[in-house]
Amino acid sequence: MVSIDNGAATANGHAAAAAKAAVSDGAVYPLASQANGAQPENDSSRKRKMTSLPLEVGTRVNCRWRDGKYHPVKVIERRKLPSGGANDYEYYVHYTEFNRRLDEWVKLEQLDLNSVETDVDEKVEDKVTSLKMTRHQKRKIDETHVEGHEELDAASLREHEEFTKVKNIATIELGRYEIETWYFSPFPPEYNDCTKLFFCEFCLNFMKRKEQLQRHMRKCDLKHPPGDEIYRNGTLSMFEVDGKKNKVYGQNLCYLAKLFLDHKTLYYDVDLFLFYVLCECDDRGCHMVGYFSKEKHSEESYNLACILTLPPYQRKGYGKFLIAFSYELSKKEGKVGTPERPLSDLGLLSYRGYWTRVLLDILKKHKGNISIKELSDMTAIKAEDILSTLQSLELIQYRKGQHVICADPKVLDRHLKAAGRGGLEVDVSKLIWTPYKEQS
Ligand code: ACO
Ligand code: ZN
Repeated sequence: MVSIDNGAATANGHAAAAAKAAVSDGAVYPLASQANGAQPENDSSRKRKMTSLPLEVGTRVNCRWRDGKYHPVKVIERRKLPSGGANDYEYYVHYTEFNRRLDEWVKLEQLDLNSVETDVDEKVEDKVTSLKMTRHQKRKIDETHVEGHEELDAASLREHEEFTKVKNIATIELGRYEIETWYFSPFPPEYNDCTKLFFCEFCLNFMKRKEQLQRHMRKCDLKHPPGDEIYRNGTLSMFEVDGKKNKVYGQNLCYLAKLFLDHKTLYYDVDLFLFYVLCECDDRGCHMVGYFSKEKHSEESYNLACILTLPPYQRKGYGKFLIAFSYELSKKEGKVGTPERPLSDLGLLSYRGYWTRVLLDILKKHKGNISIKELSDMTAIKAEDILSTLQSLELIQYRKGQHVICADPKVLDRHLKAAGRGGLEVDVSKLIWTPYKEQS
């Protein structure tokens, strides 16, 4: 399976720091052409002499990344170094081959000035000099429930990217972990001067300073998310939190989650959502590892709005557990469900893996014909998602005006192997839950 680098997010950030040190330890690295032994007066060095500093926003250039190699980037923003001279800037760059979560501030030494393409992207520069947001956009950004924004047109989407282009909070402390963030999150204006925030891991209140958090922890009497524990299996617990009853918790969770979710907009209306918070429990309390949110009433048959596994807990099967859990709730409701769109790259990988495993397990065991509708009834997976999964695996053929599933056992085994590990199982016998009903 291809690995998508998540950026560093590890216990106490040690590996993260180590990985970063390779590119930002203050050492002066040779430019790529010098490292390759290029002659001083060749074409590229002449080009370099012509490159004027500081680089413009929109410039395309190669940048030395944490893997030690050069990758193409686009300069998204620049800022003057406090102690530096007139040309001493650092640059916020987007690696054009990678997801936005890997955008970062880099020093000039990391850039190969021989590779500069001076054609500044005018659209970006215009936006930088005159950053204007429509009132509609401002409202969307300011609000605090996370929701897909596929309804945004291309222009609004560009505005969204413009406003959220530079990460505001670089790291957070949460429980035992220091975590590097991935994306911008619209914290209230009083946090504008912060690059690090300290979260109470239980009530999710966030603070600017460690001492504030320590004082808070002495007073905070929560040891698990507010709400009802609806599932416990060994050390794993799931809590259902009603956004209406626990508004501040819901909003805090959204602010936190947005740090790891890109194409989502925040809405204040947490009242309309339930939050399913997954925890690992020990004698110190129940520590959140991830969550998903779900609309209380969804007209589009969404059974999940946003899903997140906190970076230190990723790739351990919790994502598939959360997805499986969302379908178990749908089964109890007697409905089919689908995740809200758009899916992120990692969201799609996780869903595809889950759908493949669930559907192919059934096809392997099933004797005789089976229809998409039957598969949907058995799994609570929406028919469109079943069709797209089977089509992507080339298991569907169109014969005599009908879709037919072709399930050769050897082919199924091959796909199942490629779909990765099954993830943590949801033991339905441990789920004590009734579907949401509005209380009068
Ligand atoms: N590189 C390659 N494959 C990956 C990666 C990665 N970094 N992360 C997940 N996958 C794939 C793998 O196939 C993996 O299965 P495997 O480990 O058996 O190979 C599968 O996805 C899921 O792995 P899990 O361990 O079950 O999932 P995880 O706990 O890592 O959570 C999640 C997945 C929730 C998508 C996580 O990556 C995350 O929180 N990402 C940030 C937020 C996000 O993008 N959420 C989805 C947005 S869409 C929506 O909310 C509707
Ligand atoms: Zn607290």
